[in-house]
Amino acid sequence: MKKVILDMDPGIDDALALLLALRSPEIQVLGITTVAGNAPVEMTSANARRVLEYFEMTNIPVATGAAKPLNHPLVDALNYHGPDGLGQCGLPPPRLPLHPAKAWDFLAQLISDSQANIILVATGPLTNIAHAFQRYPELPKFLAKLVLMGGAYDLTPFGKGNQTPFAEFNIWQDPEAAYIVFSCGADISAVGLDMSMDPTTCLNSQHLEQIKTSHTPTAHLTAKLVEYAIKRHGRCELHDPLALATLLDASLFDFISVPVEVITGDGWDRGITRILPLEKRDKLPLIQVATAVDGPRFLKLFLSRILEE
Ligand code: BDR
Ligand code: CA
Repeated sequence: MKKVILDMDPGIDDALALLLALRSPEIQVLGITTVAGNAPVEMTSANARRVLEYFEMTNIPVATGAAKPLNHPLVDALNYHGPDGLGQCGLPPPRLPLHPAKAWDFLAQLISDSQANIILVATGPLTNIAHAFQRYPELPKFLAKLVLMGGAYDLTPFGKGNQTPFAEFNIWQDPEAAYIVFSCGADISAVGLDMSMDPTTCLNSQHLEQIKTSHTPTAHLTAKLVEYAIKRHGRCELHDPLALATLLDASLFDFISVPVEVITGDGWDRGITRILPLEKRDKLPLIQVATAVDGPRFLKLFLSRILEE
């Protein structure tokens, strides 16, 4: 069983990634850290706990983190995810208290006490992780792996931006944090919009009908989350579940090992993730970037986990 910590900003697709993790026997969720991104951090922290309580998995701690990116004000995505950040899914407010530690201290404690066997899965802006690496510079060495949803790499026809024509939301939101994380030297795998904007990885209204035929609690919540996205946007993109799926079946993806430069600041090019030629990498470490995905097989895996009794 892989031991994972989820750093997330739920968010419809973050919640779907959490459902997928909770329903996957290959994965043990040790804890969740929450960050501002799709919604303010109070809301993302509430949403993680709303989902855990729905499944009565209240033994999983939730530690709250950064309320804003390192150098920029927060620009949320509530217009996409709904006023509650979870597609008005009707879950009650949480009762579970937050863990007393801040996200970066929580991450540092769990990761440095481990035998380098913890995988961190980041599906929001990388602010908490950058804070953790700044406060605890040795931490990247103790990570087994960091899997992240972020970036647009121009590796497929879908690898353009979604926040700007050139930049993906998580990286654009906090490019300074992404720069710190991409340079940290840990074993990093990045799944970008190249994979998650590919229509073969998205749920459509036929999939929604299929989900609605099942009456399990997981299917019920999934249907609510997916329906909100499909009604407004015509499909439900599975950005964050795709990142998690790299841990469930690595054979779904192809990766290349490349240096990636993140453009920081606040210009038109903010948040661009640019693959550099090896000779221009300077001191940048190599990271694994997903170049291809078997969309139908990914959706089959996702649906089987969600629909299984
Ligand atoms: C990413 O941005 C967020 O809106 C989603 O949750 C996902 O993590 C996609 O660009
Ligand atoms: Ca997210």
